[in-house]
Amino acid sequence: MKVVVTGAAGQISYSLIPFLCENGIFKSNEKIDFSLVEIPSAMEKLSGFVKELEDSAYSNINSISVHDNINSAVEDADWCLLVGSIPRGIVLNGKEIKERADLLKINGGIFTEQGKAIGSKAKDSCKILVVGNPANTNALIGCTNANNPSQKWMAMTMLDALRAKAQVASKLQVHVDDIYRLAIFGNHSPTMFPDLENALLDGEIIYKKINDHDWVEHKFLPKIQQRGAEIIQSRGASSASSAARAACETVSSVENPTRSGDVFNAAILSDGSYGVAEGVFSGFPLTSDGMGNINIVRDFSLSEFAKSRIALTSNELVEERELVKDLL
Ligand SMILES: NC(=O)c1ccc[n+]([C@@H]2O[C@H](COP(=O)([O-])OP(=O)(O)OC[C@H]3O[C@@H](n4cnc5c(N)ncnc54)[C@H](O)[C@@H]3O)[C@@H](O)[C@H]2O)c1
Repeated sequence: MKVVVTGAAGQISYSLIPFLCENGIFKSNEKIDFSLVEIPSAMEKLSGFVKELEDSAYSNINSISVHDNINSAVEDADWCLLVGSIPRGIVLNGKEIKERADLLKINGGIFTEQGKAIGSKAKDSCKILVVGNPANTNALIGCTNANNPSQKWMAMTMLDALRAKAQVASKLQVHVDDIYRLAIFGNHSPTMFPDLENALLDGEIIYKKINDHDWVEHKFLPKIQQRGAEIIQSRGASSASSAARAACETVSSVENPTRSGDVFNAAILSDGSYGVAEGVFSGFPLTSDGMGNINIVRDFSLSEFAKSRIALTSNELVEERELVKDLL
């Protein structure tokens, strides 16, 4: 089982790779061959992390290789976890990258190259999860340049879903595992829409159980949409442990069948479901059969409020696509 991780010396990967070594994440009992990718200037830091992984003597690791370019890393890959990207605020060639358009273009270059390498060299059954932001549009660029319809590209919205479950569990004083069918629609950005109108607790709609639209619209939604910023403010760095847990949970959700009556969350290429524009990567409620088939759950009923919020986030994804159209 070959698993590629880019941005392997970064803070998310520092938690993610150990999480992936736990039993039960991958369906196959095969041991993992990790192929870790970094930019040349981070290879020394990566070698330190590899020493720690060796010292951890994981029974699920077969081998670890390190790469300073994507092409040598992805041959016959089963999974590619694309975590590495250039963050907002970095100074490149004396210019601070502040604008979304600049960020999209710079990361677009990275994901064009990574897409081409994965499309031609990774297995046709390869699954790809984009974590590096702007994740949805990076996934669109990667998937388009891979041009291999057998492979499955996703962008991560699982962290938003876990955050939403945690807030609901706290509000209703229940355990997160008792919450079913909670879906994130749209972009992994402050426009995302976490839906409670189809989420279930003991078979009852959570939105009705809460019975407080004002809380949903003015407390819950902004809380989830701005949670990333809240964490940066407290920690002085973006969420890493929780993002790693969410990436690992996405892998496990694809590898294993979805529990009966539930959904899992990731952004996939939109076919126009739920009014989301076709041809952008959007969060949807999904199920997996554990055999490599991922499907959109299509029986959610949406109020006018939900539809208007989904239209907003869909429009943002269309704008992002427009900004990178020369890379597609
Ligand atoms: N989708 C989500 O829910 C979510 C949540 C949290 C963070 N993120 C994003 O995940 C990304 C990584 O976060 P982090 O905290 O680990 O950042 P980090 O800066 O600690 O690590 C990123 C690593 O990527 C490497 N990198 C940059 N370009 C690369 C390339 N072309 N190939 C390989 N490696 C490359 C860097 O050298 C760095 O080591 C960021 O873009 C962050 O915004 C996404």
